Amino acid sequence: MKGFFITLEGVDGAGKSSHIGHLRQLCESSGHEVVMTREPGGTPLSEALRAMLLKESMHMETETLLMFAARQEHILSVIAPALASGKIVISDRFTDATYAYQGGGRHFPADKIRILEEWVQQQLQPDLTILFDVPLEVARERLEKSRERDRFEREDSEFFERVRAAYHARVSTDPKRFYIVDSSQPKPEIALQLQKMLKVKLAQHVAQGL
Ligand SMILES: Nc1ncnc2c1ncn2[C@@H]1O[C@H](COP(=O)(O)OP(=O)(O)OP(=O)(O)O)[C@@H](O)[C@H]1O
Ligand SMILES: [Mg+2]
Repeated sequence: MKGFFITLEGVDGAGKSSHIGHLRQLCESSGHEVVMTREPGGTPLSEALRAMLLKESMHMETETLLMFAARQEHILSVIAPALASGKIVISDRFTDATYAYQGGGRHFPADKIRILEEWVQQQLQPDLTILFDVPLEVARERLEKSRERDRFEREDSEFFERVRAAYHARVSTDPKRFYIVDSSQPKPEIALQLQKMLKVKLAQHVAQGL
């Protein structure tokens, strides 16, 4: 059976990392092998690029190219082999984040992102993208309470408004791929919604694979 590719998206502080472990458990308890990973990152080289991307200031062109360089390595070394062997891959961010942060946040042209996407991913697209959607004030308040901020997290609120709007624009390009969760709800509510949704998606996936 072909694997299943799940990506988690949303602005910083939306709640992606809070739910990834639970999603993994749900997949595993229904008998699937899971690879959990993140972007930028997921391989030693891509993690080194991540460290640079989150710290060093650079032109947005360089930033976008490095994101896709990290992604290329991640796909070839981790994502594609796992999917080819029938596993479920859950990635904390993927290409929608490039459209949202570099495209929406930094005004990098979407048509250039599309060229890189086609080059690096060829036919690969997530089967399911969970968008953790939350008002900016809520996400900001959560981040205030947590760890030190990286280069992206230090951007102003207009930047994050554009990122959130760009995520919504992504949904309209491929609505069937996305599941939007209202991430301002308490964690247990979100977990329950995700559990119900994932059960249906995995059953569909298994049915299609038979
Ligand atoms: N539904 C929620 N209600 C209250 N607090 C939450 C909720 N979801 C997440 N948080 C808290 O908000 C903070 C950020 O959450 P989390 O790290 O999951 O976000 P993230 O989307 O992974 O952010 P980043 O993109 O920066 O990695 C954490 O302290 C987390 O405990
Ligand atoms: Mg996170």
